[in-house]
Amino acid sequence: MSKNINIKLTKLVKYYSLINHNLILNNKSINRYNKMQPDIQKNIAKGLKKLREEINDIKDCKLKENASNLVFSDGNPNSKIMIIGEGPGANEDKEGLPFVGRAGQLLDKMLHAINLNREKVYITNVVNYRPPENRKPSEKEVERYLPYLKRHIGIIKPNIILLLGSTAMNAILGNTDVISKMRGKWHEIEINKLKIYCMVSFHPAYLLRQPDQKKFSWIDLKMIREKLKKF
Ligand code: URA
Repeated sequence: MSKNINIKLTKLVKYYSLINHNLILNNKSINRYNKMQPDIQKNIAKGLKKLREEINDIKDCKLKENASNLVFSDGNPNSKIMIIGEGPGANEDKEGLPFVGRAGQLLDKMLHAINLNREKVYITNVVNYRPPENRKPSEKEVERYLPYLKRHIGIIKPNIILLLGSTAMNAILGNTDVISKMRGKWHEIEINKLKIYCMVSFHPAYLLRQPDQKKFSWIDLKMIREKLKKF
Protein backbone atom coordinates (compact mmCIF):
# COMPACT_ATOMS: atom_id res chain seq x y z
CA MET A 1 0.00 0.00 0.00
CA SER A 2 2.67 2.52 1.10
CA LYS A 3 4.81 1.48 -1.88
CA ASN A 4 1.91 2.37 -4.16
CA ILE A 5 1.52 5.80 -2.58
CA ASN A 6 5.25 6.41 -2.99
CA ILE A 7 5.12 5.55 -6.68
CA LYS A 8 2.10 7.79 -7.15
CA LEU A 9 3.83 10.64 -5.33
CA THR A 10 7.02 10.26 -7.36
CA LYS A 11 4.98 10.33 -10.57
CA LEU A 12 3.11 13.40 -9.39
CA VAL A 13 6.32 15.28 -8.55
CA LYS A 14 7.77 14.33 -11.94
CA TYR A 15 4.60 15.50 -13.64
CA TYR A 16 4.55 18.81 -11.77
CA SER A 17 8.18 19.54 -12.59
CA LEU A 18 7.50 18.73 -16.24
CA ILE A 19 4.61 21.15 -16.58
CA ASN A 20 5.97 23.92 -14.38
CA HIS A 21 4.80 23.25 -10.84
CA ASN A 22 4.67 26.97 -9.97
CA LEU A 23 1.76 27.28 -12.27
CA ILE A 24 -0.06 24.41 -10.56
CA LEU A 25 0.78 25.14 -6.94
CA ASN A 26 0.16 28.85 -7.26
CA ASN A 27 -3.56 29.33 -6.92
CA LYS A 28 -3.58 32.83 -8.47
CA SER A 29 -5.70 32.90 -11.62
CA ILE A 30 -3.84 32.83 -14.92
CA ASN A 31 -4.26 36.06 -16.84
CA ARG A 32 -4.37 34.95 -20.45
CA TYR A 33 -5.43 38.42 -21.59
CA ASN A 34 -2.06 39.81 -20.51
CA LYS A 35 -0.33 37.64 -23.06
CA MET A 36 -2.00 39.63 -25.81
CA GLN A 37 -1.07 43.02 -24.36
CA PRO A 38 2.34 44.65 -24.81
CA ASP A 39 4.40 43.68 -21.84
CA ILE A 40 4.03 46.97 -20.02
CA GLN A 41 6.38 47.03 -17.12
CA LYS A 42 4.64 47.86 -13.88
CA ASN A 43 6.58 51.05 -13.25
CA ILE A 44 5.78 52.42 -16.71
CA ALA A 45 2.07 51.71 -16.25
CA LYS A 46 2.15 53.28 -12.79
CA GLY A 47 4.01 56.36 -14.02
CA LEU A 48 1.62 56.83 -16.93
CA LYS A 49 -1.43 56.44 -14.70
CA LYS A 50 -0.14 59.05 -12.26
CA LEU A 51 0.80 61.47 -15.02
CA ARG A 52 -2.60 61.08 -16.66
CA GLU A 53 -4.34 61.73 -13.34
CA GLU A 54 -2.28 64.87 -12.76
CA ILE A 55 -3.08 66.24 -16.22
CA ASN A 56 -6.72 65.37 -15.62
CA ASP A 57 -6.60 67.42 -12.38
CA ILE A 58 -5.13 70.55 -13.99
CA LYS A 59 -6.93 73.68 -12.76
CA ASP A 60 -7.52 77.09 -14.36
CA CYS A 61 -6.63 76.06 -17.87
CA LYS A 62 -8.60 77.55 -20.76
CA LEU A 63 -7.65 74.62 -22.99
CA LYS A 64 -9.09 72.12 -20.54
CA GLU A 65 -12.20 74.22 -19.91
CA ASN A 66 -13.02 74.27 -23.63
CA ALA A 67 -12.18 70.65 -24.40
CA SER A 68 -14.40 67.60 -24.15
CA ASN A 69 -11.69 65.06 -23.42
CA LEU A 70 -8.15 64.66 -22.21
CA VAL A 71 -6.02 63.35 -25.08
CA PHE A 72 -3.18 61.55 -23.39
CA SER A 73 -1.55 59.08 -25.77
CA ASP A 74 -1.88 56.10 -28.05
CA GLY A 75 0.37 53.19 -28.97
CA ASN A 76 2.88 50.99 -27.24
CA PRO A 77 4.50 52.32 -24.05
CA ASN A 78 7.41 49.91 -24.60
CA SER A 79 8.22 51.41 -27.97
CA LYS A 80 11.68 52.68 -28.85
CA ILE A 81 10.11 55.53 -30.78
CA MET A 82 7.91 58.30 -29.47
CA ILE A 83 6.01 60.61 -31.81
CA ILE A 84 5.05 64.07 -30.59
CA GLY A 85 2.51 66.28 -32.35
CA GLU A 86 1.16 69.70 -31.48
CA GLY A 87 -2.22 69.23 -29.86
CA PRO A 88 -5.57 67.50 -30.35
CA GLY A 89 -7.99 68.62 -33.06
CA ALA A 90 -11.77 68.16 -33.15
CA ASN A 91 -11.68 64.40 -33.87
CA GLU A 92 -9.05 63.73 -31.25
CA ASP A 93 -11.02 65.76 -28.70
CA LYS A 94 -14.11 63.69 -29.45
CA GLU A 95 -12.34 60.33 -29.23
CA GLY A 96 -9.77 61.11 -26.55
CA LEU A 97 -6.96 59.74 -28.75
CA PRO A 98 -4.19 61.54 -30.65
CA PHE A 99 -4.00 61.63 -34.45
CA VAL A 100 -7.30 60.02 -35.36
CA GLY A 101 -8.45 62.63 -37.92
CA ARG A 102 -7.20 63.20 -41.48
CA ALA A 103 -3.70 64.10 -40.31
CA GLY A 104 -3.71 60.92 -38.24
CA GLN A 105 -4.66 58.83 -41.25
CA LEU A 106 -1.74 60.29 -43.15
CA LEU A 107 0.53 59.63 -40.17
CA ASP A 108 -0.59 55.97 -40.19
CA LYS A 109 0.33 55.74 -43.90
CA MET A 110 3.72 57.34 -43.25
CA LEU A 111 4.41 54.85 -40.45
CA HIS A 112 3.26 51.97 -42.61
CA ALA A 113 5.80 53.01 -45.27
CA ILE A 114 8.61 52.21 -42.81
CA ASN A 115 6.97 49.09 -41.39
CA LEU A 116 5.63 50.77 -38.29
CA ASN A 117 2.13 51.06 -36.90
CA ARG A 118 0.40 52.12 -33.70
CA GLU A 119 1.36 48.92 -31.94
CA LYS A 120 5.00 49.68 -32.58
CA VAL A 121 5.15 53.40 -31.73
CA TYR A 122 4.01 55.63 -28.87
CA ILE A 123 2.16 58.86 -29.75
CA THR A 124 1.39 61.99 -27.76
CA ASN A 125 1.14 65.77 -28.18
CA VAL A 126 2.69 68.90 -26.65
CA VAL A 127 -0.66 69.91 -25.12
CA ASN A 128 -3.23 67.36 -24.01
CA TYR A 129 -6.39 69.40 -24.53
CA ARG A 130 -7.70 70.76 -27.82
CA PRO A 131 -6.95 74.45 -28.44
CA PRO A 132 -10.24 76.13 -29.45
CA GLU A 133 -10.76 76.60 -33.19
CA ASN A 134 -7.71 74.41 -33.80
CA ARG A 135 -5.42 77.36 -33.13
CA LYS A 136 -1.78 76.78 -32.19
CA PRO A 137 -1.23 76.49 -28.45
CA SER A 138 0.14 79.76 -27.07
CA GLU A 139 3.68 80.03 -25.66
CA LYS A 140 2.21 80.11 -22.15
CA GLU A 141 0.16 76.98 -22.80
CA VAL A 142 3.20 75.16 -24.16
CA GLU A 143 5.20 76.27 -21.13
CA ARG A 144 2.51 74.93 -18.82
CA TYR A 145 2.34 71.50 -20.47
CA LEU A 146 6.06 71.06 -21.17
CA PRO A 147 6.95 69.66 -17.72
CA TYR A 148 4.25 67.00 -18.19
CA LEU A 149 5.58 66.18 -21.66
CA LYS A 150 9.13 65.86 -20.33
CA ARG A 151 7.91 63.54 -17.59
CA HIS A 152 6.03 61.58 -20.23
CA ILE A 153 9.28 61.16 -22.18
CA GLY A 154 11.08 60.18 -18.97
CA ILE A 155 8.54 57.41 -18.35
CA ILE A 156 8.56 56.01 -21.90
CA LYS A 157 12.35 56.36 -22.29
CA PRO A 158 12.36 56.25 -26.09
CA ASN A 159 15.61 55.98 -28.05
CA ILE A 160 14.14 58.09 -30.82
CA ILE A 161 11.65 60.96 -30.84
CA LEU A 162 9.93 62.16 -33.99
CA LEU A 163 8.86 65.78 -33.58
CA LEU A 164 6.05 66.63 -35.96
CA GLY A 165 5.74 70.33 -36.71
CA SER A 166 7.25 73.46 -35.24
CA THR A 167 5.30 73.48 -31.95
CA ALA A 168 6.74 70.09 -30.96
CA MET A 169 10.20 70.98 -32.30
CA ASN A 170 10.36 74.39 -30.58
CA ALA A 171 9.11 72.91 -27.29
CA ILE A 172 11.55 70.00 -27.13
CA LEU A 173 14.63 71.45 -28.86
CA GLY A 174 14.06 74.86 -27.24
CA ASN A 175 14.66 76.70 -30.51
CA THR A 176 12.73 79.10 -32.70
CA ASP A 177 13.87 77.57 -35.99
CA VAL A 178 11.70 76.42 -38.86
CA ILE A 179 11.19 72.78 -39.81
CA SER A 180 12.71 73.13 -43.28
CA LYS A 181 16.04 74.12 -41.68
CA MET A 182 16.07 71.49 -38.94
CA ARG A 183 14.60 68.39 -40.61
CA GLY A 184 16.68 65.64 -42.21
CA LYS A 185 19.32 65.47 -39.47
CA TRP A 186 19.62 64.04 -35.98
CA HIS A 187 19.44 66.26 -32.93
CA GLU A 188 20.64 64.73 -29.67
CA ILE A 189 18.92 65.71 -26.45
CA GLU A 190 19.13 64.54 -22.87
CA ILE A 191 16.10 64.07 -20.65
CA ASN A 192 16.51 62.47 -17.20
CA LYS A 193 20.10 61.54 -18.14
CA LEU A 194 18.73 59.66 -21.12
CA LYS A 195 20.29 60.37 -24.50
CA ILE A 196 17.59 60.60 -27.15
CA TYR A 197 17.90 61.05 -30.92
CA CYS A 198 15.33 63.50 -32.24
CA MET A 199 14.19 63.77 -35.84
CA VAL A 200 12.19 66.81 -36.83
CA SER A 201 9.76 66.53 -39.71
CA PHE A 202 6.76 68.21 -41.30
CA HIS A 203 3.45 67.85 -39.52
CA PRO A 204 1.04 65.58 -41.48
CA ALA A 205 -1.58 68.40 -41.44
CA TYR A 206 0.96 70.57 -43.29
CA LEU A 207 1.67 67.74 -45.73
CA LEU A 208 -2.05 67.53 -46.51
CA ARG A 209 -1.89 71.19 -47.54
CA GLN A 210 1.53 70.95 -49.22
CA PRO A 211 1.78 67.43 -50.71
CA ASP A 212 4.90 68.37 -52.71
CA GLN A 213 6.78 68.41 -49.36
CA LYS A 214 6.11 64.69 -48.82
CA LYS A 215 9.36 63.83 -50.58
CA PHE A 216 11.26 65.46 -47.72
CA SER A 217 9.31 63.68 -45.02
CA TRP A 218 10.07 60.40 -46.83
CA ILE A 219 13.81 61.14 -46.39
CA ASP A 220 13.23 61.75 -42.66
CA LEU A 221 11.23 58.54 -42.31
CA LYS A 222 13.95 56.50 -44.01
CA MET A 223 16.52 57.95 -41.59
CA ILE A 224 14.31 56.80 -38.72
CA ARG A 225 14.01 53.32 -40.24
CA GLU A 226 17.80 53.10 -40.41
CA LYS A 227 18.35 54.45 -36.89
CA LEU A 228 15.82 52.01 -35.39
CA LYS A 229 18.03 49.12 -36.54
CA LYS A 230 20.58 50.21 -33.93
CA PHE A 231 18.23 49.65 -30.99
N1 URA B 1 -2.52 67.24 -34.87
C1 URA B 1 -1.71 67.07 -33.81
O1 URA B 1 -0.69 67.71 -33.68
N2 URA B 1 -2.04 66.14 -32.94
C2 URA B 1 -3.12 65.40 -33.03
O2 URA B 1 -3.35 64.57 -32.18
C3 URA B 1 -3.95 65.59 -34.14
C4 URA B 1 -3.64 66.52 -35.05
